[in-house]
Amino acid sequence: MSLSRSLTPLLLGLAVCRAAVYETFNQLPPGLAYDFVIVGGGTAGNVVANRLTENPGFSVLVLEAGGSNIGVVDSIVPALELGLFDPRLGYLWNYTTIPQSNAGNRALSYPRGRLLGGTSSINGMWYTRGSRDDFDRYSNVTGDPGWGWDAIQKYFRKNEKWSPPADHHNTHGQFDPAVHSTTGINSVSLPGYQWPMFSRVIETTVEMPDEFKFVLDYNAGVPLGVGWAQNTIENGARSSSAVSYLAAPFINRPNLHVLINAQVSRVLSANGSTHFNQVEFSQDKKELFIVQASKEIILSAGSVGTPHILLNSGIGNRTSLAHHGIKTIVDLPDVGQNFTDQPLISNSWFVNSTETFESYSQNSTKLAEDLRQWNETRQGPLVSTIVGGHIAWLRLDANSSIFSQHADPAAGINTPHIELQIASGIGLATPIPPEGGNFISFQTSVVSPASRGSITLNTSNPFDPPLIDPAVLADDFDAFAMRVAIKKAAKFVSAEAWKGFVIRPLDNLAQALTSDEALETYIRETASHGAHPVGSAAMSPKAAKWGVVGPDLLLKDATGIRVIDASVMPYVPSGHTQAPTYAVAERGESHLIDAIYRSNSYLIEI
Ligand SMILES: Cc1cc2nc3c(=O)[nH]c(=O)nc-3n(C[C@H](O)[C@H](O)[C@H](O)COP(=O)(O)OP(=O)(O)OC[C@H]3O[C@@H](n4cnc5c(N)ncnc54)[C@H](O)[C@@H]3O)c2cc1C
Ligand SMILES: *[C@@H]1O[C@H](CO)[C@@H](O)[C@H](O)[C@H]1NC(C)=O
Ligand SMILES: *[C@@H]1O[C@H](CO)[C@@H](O)[C@H](O)[C@H]1NC(C)=O
Ligand SMILES: *[C@@H]1O[C@H](CO)[C@@H](O)[C@H](O)[C@H]1NC(C)=O
Ligand SMILES: *[C@@H]1O[C@H](CO)[C@@H](O)[C@H](O)[C@H]1NC(C)=O
Ligand SMILES: *[C@@H]1O[C@H](CO)[C@@H](O)[C@H](O)[C@H]1NC(C)=O
Ligand SMILES: *[C@@H]1O[C@H](CO)[C@@H](O)[C@H](O)[C@H]1NC(C)=O
Ligand SMILES: *[C@@H]1O[C@H](CO)[C@@H](O)[C@H](O)[C@H]1NC(C)=O
Ligand SMILES: *[C@@H]1O[C@H](CO)[C@@H](O)[C@H](O)[C@H]1NC(C)=O
Ligand SMILES: *[C@@H]1O[C@H](CO)[C@@H](O)[C@H](O)[C@H]1NC(C)=O
Ligand SMILES: *[C@@H]1O[C@H](CO)[C@@H](O)[C@H](O)[C@H]1NC(C)=O
Repeated sequence: MSLSRSLTPLLLGLAVCRAAVYETFNQLPPGLAYDFVIVGGGTAGNVVANRLTENPGFSVLVLEAGGSNIGVVDSIVPALELGLFDPRLGYLWNYTTIPQSNAGNRALSYPRGRLLGGTSSINGMWYTRGSRDDFDRYSNVTGDPGWGWDAIQKYFRKNEKWSPPADHHNTHGQFDPAVHSTTGINSVSLPGYQWPMFSRVIETTVEMPDEFKFVLDYNAGVPLGVGWAQNTIENGARSSSAVSYLAAPFINRPNLHVLINAQVSRVLSANGSTHFNQVEFSQDKKELFIVQASKEIILSAGSVGTPHILLNSGIGNRTSLAHHGIKTIVDLPDVGQNFTDQPLISNSWFVNSTETFESYSQNSTKLAEDLRQWNETRQGPLVSTIVGGHIAWLRLDANSSIFSQHADPAAGINTPHIELQIASGIGLATPIPPEGGNFISFQTSVVSPASRGSITLNTSNPFDPPLIDPAVLADDFDAFAMRVAIKKAAKFVSAEAWKGFVIRPLDNLAQALTSDEALETYIRETASHGAHPVGSAAMSPKAAKWGVVGPDLLLKDATGIRVIDASVMPYVPSGHTQAPTYAVAERGESHLIDAIYRSNSYLIEI
């Protein structure tokens, strides 16, 4: 669906010129030797690029496979996000999973951003940090207390710039200012447009407090309850890592070069050792270029891209690499393993109201009017996301039958198992019913899943896509928890607060709600993934045989490579992954700087 195509010319005034983004190899200043080469100008990569170039003595090159984010209207106007998913526009990697054997054998599309800002330029803009338990588990499994909740707060604060909502409404009672920072770089705000259904969500928390209590701020460490959306939006526009960390004062630093349309194939060792200091890339998947990194290579290509590049480079499971004729340089069998995502289903109910987001698909006049309003005043429905105004974070009952057969995969008792994203519209995965009609949707997700998937090579050509297996519903715990989540959504809309508004579930959901067997069938036939993968280059204690990087994010059994992106998280946080990724990036970069200043072999150039 592309809601905004015909309106794009209206908005061309948004484009600005940025000098230090280069489009072709030939435009790069000569020399091609940098202190740091960052692979991927995505969510985490741009944080690292920004922070490293605070020191004018460091030279930094970012290699990004995709194009520029500048002037991409669907990435700027929050509610136009769906337009980015048209593969022909080139903002995605066009990935498809292998057939999901526990989910109807369907091969699912697997979106990943392919432009500056990476997935932060295409995502749903939820800002959720996960729970205290999630980070305390990272601390426990890595043996590094610095990854624990209390210690990581400093990095959330470096990242976050809390901002007023576009409509400047009174936000008292909608969040806890004590747990937010106004001095970071990436903007976060509450919804800037009030959909009529919002008040019904809050009424439900008053009516059914035992099941759906209100939580003032789900980013304070204990998320459980129903809380207001916090989004990476400022003044009604998306705040991606490209918009924020590469803003004019940063991108114009003379020591920062960004080359777009540059897909990295491998990392290399100049002398055939396990010291990596060269990056190989191409702009047309034919001609190869090599650039030197005298201090470090930082892999920030994301949970699919990073393990893919490592495997292409001979860093991975020796047996599997040999199968593709690739010589093993570092035998690290966990590269690409433990790939963890969250299953997700979009469930819709017809409503007696046309004030729902999907009504745009039935009324292009309304869309044009609202886009004009957005452009002129940064007000109106398009300032906020389509994915919802509230989230319910819930746990399975402690006495659930599943726990007699299955250990609890959640990080602790204050951590949700399931999530309901409550949207006045269509969500990201919502099919529009053939019969039309207005509806709202609940995207249900298992945020503490037990399934584990993988990223492996399909061919030895580094430009071919890897095999992506998010293992949707592979573990029965996840299907069980999804059943509970959908029943919770049905319970939610059964509240008095929805009388006269919610009419009935869409036909497929109505059928699913008739029995546990029907619900199971519906889940297996419709489940997708949450697009929140982590774990494919997981952190583990320095000396551990398992894992891919140490707690300092340096690649094991090698020198010269650090991984800084979502792939290092050994478990998926019990929420959406961009805020944790930003915190990982801020802390990862600070490790890097510490190492540089501590090491005698590095000249301090400031
Ligand atoms: C559709 C969708 C919706 C989402 N919604 C939310 C949400 O609402 N809230 C939330 O918190 N999270 C959300 N997420 C997840 C979140 O955005 C990601 O977890 C996070 O952005 C990942 O950051 P990253 O730095 O690890 O990877 P990315 O941001 O994906 O960055 C990787 C970058 O590396 C580039 N790259 C990859 N391979 C190569 C290569 N070989 N050579 C050169 N460059 C390369 C990519 O093009 C990309 O720019 C969503 C994800 C998707 C896909
Ligand atoms: C949209 O905004 C830009 C500047 O922000 C302006 O140049 C342009 O004229 C606007 N278009 C309309 C139709 O208002
Ligand atoms: C994705 O597919 C479209 C065609 O549908 C193509 O134009 C685009 O270049 C592809 N993107 C990538 C990264 O291969
Ligand atoms: C971390 O380890 C401590 C000590 O073993 C334990 O008490 C605590 O429950 C663990 N926390 C998490 C979140 O794993
Ligand atoms: C390769 O180069 C690195 C960095 O200069 C050096 O530490 C290492 O000893 C070299 N290895 C060999 C085998 O020459
Ligand atoms: C490496 O991969 C092979 C083939 O997939 C597998 O049998 C083996 O267990 C893996 N090795 C390790 C140490 O994980
Ligand atoms: C479409 O939207 C316009 C502007 O909001 C409104 O006047 C019109 O009645 C709508 N049309 C339909 C068919 O709902
Ligand atoms: C579990 O406990 C709840 C109360 O917390 C109760 O309502 C429910 O019936 C119990 N379920 C089972 C399976 O025992
Ligand atoms: C894997 O490679 C084969 C052979 O080249 C190709 O037919 C298939 O489509 C590839 N699979 C994926 C998921 O890319
Ligand atoms: C929808 O709302 C209108 C106006 O309040 C009412 O007349 C009508 O009966 C409602 N329809 C349904 C199906 O509830
Ligand atoms: C996955 O993670 C677990 C710890 O959570 C670890 O024991 C295991 O070795 C990791 N690797 C694989 C391939 O499962």
